[in-house]
Amino acid sequence: MNEIIPLCKDWLFGFAENVTAEMMAYGNSIFFNDETRIWQKAGNHGLSKAGNPQTAQWDKVNIPDDFVIRGSFSSDANWKTGSLKGGQAWYLKDFELEDEDFGKSIIIEFDGVYRNSQIFVNGHFIGRRLSGYSSFAYDITDVCQYGKELNRVAVFADATESEQWSYEGGGIYREVRLVKKAPVYITSWGIDIKPDAQTGELHIDVTLCSNLYDETNARVSCRIAGPDGEVVAWAENSQMVEARASAVVGFECKIKNPCLWSVEKPTLYTAEFYINELGAGIENFGFRSIEFDSQTGFYLNGINMKLKGVCCHQDHGGVGIAVPPALQEWRIKRLKELGCNAIRTSHNMPDPALLDACDRLGMLVMDEIRLPGCAEELKRDLCDLVKRDRNHPSVILWSLGNEEPLQNQITGVNLFRSMQQIVKKLDPSRPTTYAQNGLWIDDIDFHEEHNFHFDVFGANYRSGQKSENYDLMHEKYPNWPMLGTETFGGMSTRGLYEMDKSNIPLEYPLSDIFGDECWRDKEHKWYASAYGGTFTPWGYEIEETWSDCVKRPFMAGTFIWTGFDYRGETLPYGWPAVITRFGVLDICGFYKEIAHYLRSWWRPEEPHIFIMPHWNWHERAGEDIRVWCYSNSNQVELFLNGESLGRKDMPKNYRLEWMVPYVAGELKAVGYDPNGSEVVSTARRTASVPVKISLEKNTLKDIIIVNTRVEDSFGELCPRADDQIIFKVTGPAEILGAGNGNPLSHEPERFSNKRHAYHGLCQIILQRTGAGDVTVEASALKLKSSRIEV
Ligand code: GAL
Repeated sequence: MNEIIPLCKDWLFGFAENVTAEMMAYGNSIFFNDETRIWQKAGNHGLSKAGNPQTAQWDKVNIPDDFVIRGSFSSDANWKTGSLKGGQAWYLKDFELEDEDFGKSIIIEFDGVYRNSQIFVNGHFIGRRLSGYSSFAYDITDVCQYGKELNRVAVFADATESEQWSYEGGGIYREVRLVKKAPVYITSWGIDIKPDAQTGELHIDVTLCSNLYDETNARVSCRIAGPDGEVVAWAENSQMVEARASAVVGFECKIKNPCLWSVEKPTLYTAEFYINELGAGIENFGFRSIEFDSQTGFYLNGINMKLKGVCCHQDHGGVGIAVPPALQEWRIKRLKELGCNAIRTSHNMPDPALLDACDRLGMLVMDEIRLPGCAEELKRDLCDLVKRDRNHPSVILWSLGNEEPLQNQITGVNLFRSMQQIVKKLDPSRPTTYAQNGLWIDDIDFHEEHNFHFDVFGANYRSGQKSENYDLMHEKYPNWPMLGTETFGGMSTRGLYEMDKSNIPLEYPLSDIFGDECWRDKEHKWYASAYGGTFTPWGYEIEETWSDCVKRPFMAGTFIWTGFDYRGETLPYGWPAVITRFGVLDICGFYKEIAHYLRSWWRPEEPHIFIMPHWNWHERAGEDIRVWCYSNSNQVELFLNGESLGRKDMPKNYRLEWMVPYVAGELKAVGYDPNGSEVVSTARRTASVPVKISLEKNTLKDIIIVNTRVEDSFGELCPRADDQIIFKVTGPAEILGAGNGNPLSHEPERFSNKRHAYHGLCQIILQRTGAGDVTVEASALKLKSSRIEV
């Protein structure tokens, strides 16, 4: 009988600075002139009262919403958090409950509100949550109204302070839903399924809650369905639940020869729950085993594999942190294409929609908390994370923090030890880890002296010349599994090459943050070019990062910083840059050049080849151009206008380089297998003038992603094109946002119907609003327009 009502459409939105005392006091039972007195009597919060006439003209927004990304970029705002201003805002939503809903339990669930949220319903204060990354639910049964009278929920979000050091957005940026349940119900995230992949046994615990005023006996049953929907097991149990209290009921059952969940074949089972025969909840889970071995690394279902991981922040081009579930799925697919098999949710509790996508698509997850601590609020965040996420087969590690200065202090040991204990109690099946930086061997010695360690040792940034640290650590603590929790730290910009004298910021007020150390390629200082060459002082080349991991069997894997570019933390420049350059994909998910390195070596068995730069260097005729090739072929031969420039052996986990005097035409690379047979090839042709736009659509559920290219008359990408593209959408869809990956662009992106191309590419994201044909038309001043139907 659980009825889920998504609360996504038509919220009223207002900035807190425009909220008056009168608005707050509407319908207040004791209101004297200008005094609001909302806290003096129950139910006095006027904004959360349906029918408040003073809010009638507020703007309407849909959820997910990020009110910060709707603002304008400014040098006055902090560059670390994206040069966009935070602020405080209210969201209001009216909803109806029928007369026959009376007696049901009414629950409101929030997947995440950034941040310090306060929730009111029908004038009553309901709850608050400090972290912008936690999911939470409130039972609002006692304050609901039925029949003619509308209900209203008001959500206050305060994004004036930050929890991290990069862009975090603001508002109700993840899904919200109302759930009507029976008087005795299963609490939100109250299902705990422990599957045993070896035996097929299941131990299930379910937390019940009663809104009744008498003790009651709840008959709870559970049906397990396989991937094809066939019921494969069931179990039943009864449990007394005291009046207005909660209780836990357990089940045991067994499935014969369960199909295992894996990265290649992510098989999911479903558990459906009934209380007194009425549907009471549904949960997906999977059978799989994980193991971290201190000598041989990570095993999934007994099979040894390297974790080919990336760290991910939450935001995407065009939408900020308001990433709809289908876009989450698209981002995961994009990473899988590279051969990535694991993501780290750095540094926060993720959107549950992201984990659902990882379960469905076969992506492993290192699930991270935001802030370690002993405060009740922080311990609650940790407990809620584990309770919410422990049924996801994709989750393989709990990460208890990242680079905390207290990691080498007794306070750190105390906090981590207590947090580890909380996690173990709620989920004994997964190891804990922590992303440790600095002089980590010294820190570990300190932990050891205090008889504490994480189950899997997480090492941040120790590759290249410092990679012997891995060996020293392994020698000293041979029984500890080890993982590169954060690695790489290089910066690059899609399509930007140092031969190109464009796109360098005009001012470098923060350029000396790192000093010269950051520009390893001194000759080309100031370019965060596509060749790499720009690093944080703690960064390493992608080649050394991956090789250092591959050659050490004891390393379970590596998590590259980062999968996608993200807003804020715009090292090395600061303003006017507004997007970071750490990603292997840009903020729209377009491949940067470096992504082809990973695509080559993370999927070595599938031939891949890529050459850079583009081949449009008219102003450099005759000059040597540095050509790089990423490929997993045995040998590569380069041809310029049909003439061979030589064949070279491809060093494993590395790349090739040629210096090629520039002549316009075709630069082609051919990859050969060990028998000398051609297996793969690619070419860059000199593009002529931009003449047309080409559109490529990706439809995922209710989201349409349109990738846009500016091309010459032969369909070649024009690598310097920056035309402004104007999009017109007809049919049941609306634009959510537009992006182009340019770290320096200050164009408005949320809901924008226009965007300049950046090195020939841009993207718009559409939300479907109904069934029927959608047409997207793209036009630009000097280009032939283009149309696609979805
Ligand atoms: C790491 C940190 C990340 C990010 C990165 C930038 O030390 O854990 O959050 O700030 O540096 O290089």
